[in-house]
Amino acid sequence: MKPDDVAYLTHMLRRRSGMMLGRAKPEFIEGRLAPVMRRFGFKDVSGLVAELRHGRDALARAVTEAMTTNESSFFRDRPSFDVFEQLVLPALLTRRGSAKRLRIWSAACAAGQEAYSIAMLLDDHKLAAKGWTIDVIATDISAEMVARGEQGLYGHFEVQRGLPVRRLVDHFSQEGSSWRVGENLRRMVTFRPFNLLDSFGWLEDIDVVFCRNVLMYLDHKAKVGVLDQISEVLLPDGYLMLGSVETPQGLSNAFDPVPGSPGLYVPARAALPRQAVG
Ligand SMILES: C[S@@+](CC[C@H](N)C(=O)[O-])C[C@H]1O[C@@H](n2cnc3c(N)ncnc32)[C@H](O)[C@@H]1O
Repeated sequence: MKPDDVAYLTHMLRRRSGMMLGRAKPEFIEGRLAPVMRRFGFKDVSGLVAELRHGRDALARAVTEAMTTNESSFFRDRPSFDVFEQLVLPALLTRRGSAKRLRIWSAACAAGQEAYSIAMLLDDHKLAAKGWTIDVIATDISAEMVARGEQGLYGHFEVQRGLPVRRLVDHFSQEGSSWRVGENLRRMVTFRPFNLLDSFGWLEDIDVVFCRNVLMYLDHKAKVGVLDQISEVLLPDGYLMLGSVETPQGLSNAFDPVPGSPGLYVPARAALPRQAVG
């Protein structure tokens, strides 16, 4: 690959998604781009980049999606889900007991495993039968991933990673060699393509934001922007869950860690205007 082409791709990717290619090897980039080249009929990366330079948006979108890392699994980083199940959910069920409404956002949902894991924990409480309105909003920059989440169809290997057998039996039905998420969970989750660099204006009053294992791919400016916007859509007594290697430290003063609760953050007191006043 020509250094010029790598430089162009690096810049384009960063501008469109905040993602950094870093020191990615040419073979890695070519491997990720191979399906896009086949789909759009390019023999090599140079031809593809030449076309990108002409500003073909569909191609640029496909390239951006192809460069994403969509690694995920059900109940990934189990300690975070334990915190959600044992601390966050009981607190919110008490606090929202009269409104009976919960809005949880899986902000980089990949193929939906995170959103459905959340839905399974919510389903344990049979909230719909108790009159609660539950919205799990699942978004990702990759339209392909979002479509997979909507389908709710997972391979054998995917359901074997992290999903307890009891939950597989309770919430999935087998279709050939795959497993389909049941209707009661799918009713709770709404999928939508969304780029975290865009305005969060359509999101509001969120009780919990799961923004896990995505900041680690973004550049400093994008990380700051994402945390800043999360602090605006999150309710003052809401919660933020980050991935185990991620932290707002050095990026945002809007969140405080909850000691002893891996990955869990709450809006910082100083960041709340109504508490800062007086
Ligand atoms: C490693 S997966 C994390 C999935 C899940 N949150 C988890 O922890 O298992 C990272 C996801 O972030 C998405 N992503 C990367 N940049 C993004 C952006 N700018 N806006 C929205 N999603 C993005 C990728 O498409 C990918 O599906």
